[in-house]
Amino acid sequence: MIRPLKGKSPFYPGQPVPRESFVGRMSQINRIVERGLAQASAGKPNTMYVQGEYGIGKSSIAGFVQWLGERDYGLHGIYAPLGSAETIEDLGATVLQATLRSGALNPNRAERVSSWLAKYVGQQSFFGVTIHAEALKKDAPAVASGMLPFLRETVDRLKETGVKGLFLVLDEINGISANPKFAHFIKGLVDTNALAGEPLPLLLMLCGVEECRREMIRYHQPVDRIFDVVEIEPMTPDEMKEFFEKAFESVQMRVEPDAIALMAEYSAGFPKIMHLVGDAAFWQDEDGIIDKNDAVQAVFVAADEVGKKYVDQQVYKALRSQDYHSILAKIAKMGPDTMSFQRRDVESGLTLSERKKFNNFLQKMKTLKVLRSGDMQGEYLFNMRMVRLYIWLQSLEKPKS
Ligand SMILES: Nc1ncnc2c1ncn2[C@@H]1O[C@H](COP(=O)(O)OP(=O)(O)O)[C@@H](O)[C@H]1O
Ligand SMILES: [Mg+2]
Repeated sequence: MIRPLKGKSPFYPGQPVPRESFVGRMSQINRIVERGLAQASAGKPNTMYVQGEYGIGKSSIAGFVQWLGERDYGLHGIYAPLGSAETIEDLGATVLQATLRSGALNPNRAERVSSWLAKYVGQQSFFGVTIHAEALKKDAPAVASGMLPFLRETVDRLKETGVKGLFLVLDEINGISANPKFAHFIKGLVDTNALAGEPLPLLLMLCGVEECRREMIRYHQPVDRIFDVVEIEPMTPDEMKEFFEKAFESVQMRVEPDAIALMAEYSAGFPKIMHLVGDAAFWQDEDGIIDKNDAVQAVFVAADEVGKKYVDQQVYKALRSQDYHSILAKIAKMGPDTMSFQRRDVESGLTLSERKKFNNFLQKMKTLKVLRSGDMQGEYLFNMRMVRLYIWLQSLEKPKS
């Protein structure tokens, strides 16, 4: 029998979530609105650091509040992903390019920006604005060293369209935060603005993991004081439930409570995994109702994907020695639901040479964030159920030779 074609999946693994599918995060959003958007809109600059693990939803929340800022607070949003930036000049180039692309929600603003920055526009193509790479590269250092005047001019050029201030997001700072100049750059920008006779109403938002913020502080201690830190935690069970219900409902599918419970349990509040599992369930299902069986299948598919992308690349590769692998397999065999173990229970099943390396193994697994220490002496816990499941699956597939 030929199955009817499926419509579009309501899940977005690997992409910031579109506004319609965004769920939860009420307390963080309220905080950003009160201390960020409303303040900037009233003329007061502020600097926020959106902090959380990879895949927890930083870019998504930044996108969401930028939209709110444009709609309700007269803030012009510029979104600069710094993933491939290493130097301050790179940062200048990225911000310039991001400015050129800004205003997408408001054609009038987009038009003004692109005519002001026309010299950086390459060929106007069917696909929208292209960039004149050479001109951009040439002026990037000037934009970087004159960041504040550049941002001020952006606002001035848009005043007539009702813009009151600027909301600049610097996302994916993990590369550039390793550059000591970055911390100084940020502190300099914020201080110069604060001391200006008439400060630019600038909401500056950095998104990154906690280590990046600590790294910046190590390079330049005073930067610590400027950040209003917004922590993004794993989603709560209620947020996850809302997420799955809303997503399936949007494509006229129903999802049963025990299916939600299972998908939520294995996603453990990580939106990235929720999208993977949800997507797998969407494709798995044949009758428009996601039941527990669909959810079980989906969890296996998702575990395989998480494993191939994360565990294979970061864990198995890092565990070079054969003994490490066999230790891991022995732990894995304790079953996919055992989320914790006692050191001595594992130790008793190890060979002599494995036993010698056991300590290093545990340290390494902690650095890789696969395990963490438990409250009891000698207790270790897996951080993620999905990773745990994948390791178990691997240990079944590869019986030791
Ligand atoms: N509030 C949310 N509602 C629904 N999906 C979300 C939400 N936040 C993040 N996601 C999804 O989770 C995944 C990771 O989100 P992302 O914002 O890219 O995380 P980060 O920037 O922290 O790495 C993406 O697939 C995104 O669509
Ligand atoms: Mg991101």
